Amino acid sequence: MTCRIGILISGRGSNMEAIVNHIREENASIKVCFVASDRAKAAGLEIARNRGITTAAISYKQGRAAAETEIEKLWQEHQIDLLLLAGFMRLITGDFVSRHEGRILNIHPAMLPKFPGAHGIEDFWKSGESSSGVTVHIVDAEMDHGPILMQQKVDRTAEDTMETFEAKIHAVEHQLYWRALKNYIPKLSQEA
Ligand code: GRF
Repeated sequence: MTCRIGILISGRGSNMEAIVNHIREENASIKVCFVASDRAKAAGLEIARNRGITTAAISYKQGRAAAETEIEKLWQEHQIDLLLLAGFMRLITGDFVSRHEGRILNIHPAMLPKFPGAHGIEDFWKSGESSSGVTVHIVDAEMDHGPILMQQKVDRTAEDTMETFEAKIHAVEHQLYWRALKNYIPKLSQEA
């Protein structure tokens, strides 16, 4: 059975693109049915369009409830099994989460529960700690919170600048989201 997924982004979409590439390289039974963004100009939308994927812009002008109605429509229209947040900078409401329990995943550029929020890499960097990492987790109603599926540590070396460290984090993200996704999908079908 093909697993049908949707992806929500807000920016450049490198995690989305990595997933699309992994699917193609491994010829996996996963279909990216749509990529949607709360920012109509998100660079990732253009990348998705160029890869032949349906895209959508979600307006948050009328508030979160109206925006989530649009996301729900996409969910139903494309009959997705799973929604991936990939650099999506909006909070999902508890209502939406409870309708889709265990069916929304997120990636965060730190070792949750450490450094949640929009500046996970910068906050770690300023903390002076010696290692951080990447987390893939199931989304619940709290920000950057919910059952952890996979984590990978990333050390900060003496040679690192914030830019080189950030690049290491992103390189790990581009592998870890895929590994976590492949590992999680069979669990979804057992539950259905
Ligand atoms: C990633 O670091 C992700 O973990 C965080 O936002 C960033 C998005 O990057 N939530 P991209 O849009 O996937 O390139």
